[in-house]
Amino acid sequence: MKIITIFLLLALQANVCAKEPASERQTELLYLLKHDCGACHGMTLKGGLGPPLLPEVLATKPKELLFNTIFYGRMETAMPPWQNFLTPEEINWLLKQLLEGIDES
Ligand code: HEC
Repeated sequence: MKIITIFLLLALQANVCAKEPASERQTELLYLLKHDCGACHGMTLKGGLGPPLLPEVLATKPKELLFNTIFYGRMETAMPPWQNFLTPEEINWLLKQLLEGIDES
């Protein structure tokens, strides 16, 4: 009985991990957002060569469009595809952070 409970807990945890990147990866992703995405969108994401990635701007756009923009990039623009560097789960997680607003402190 006990073993089954432990197994269920592990299975549950694995499921949670599949949806969100591990915490070390989250740190890496936030670093990437600031330094790689930030190179074009501004370190504080207020825009530069690329448009601002602030919650109030992104909230007005369909999530699928934003996902596809990051996954495939935008042809004929400077926005590069990230599909070789980020998994769909990681892109969704980054979008969630962007939509909630990144705490700059
Ligand atoms: C080399 C410059 C560059 C880099 C690096 C870059 N972007 Fe972009 N990004 C752009 C440009 C330019 C656009 C606008 C494309 C257009 O004109 O439609 C854009 C558009 C976007 C959009 C759509 C915004 C909107 O309002 O429709 C999102 C979301 C986005 N980028 C996220 C990211 C993320 C996340 C990263 C890092 C993983 C990233 N970008 C890295 C240049 C860049």
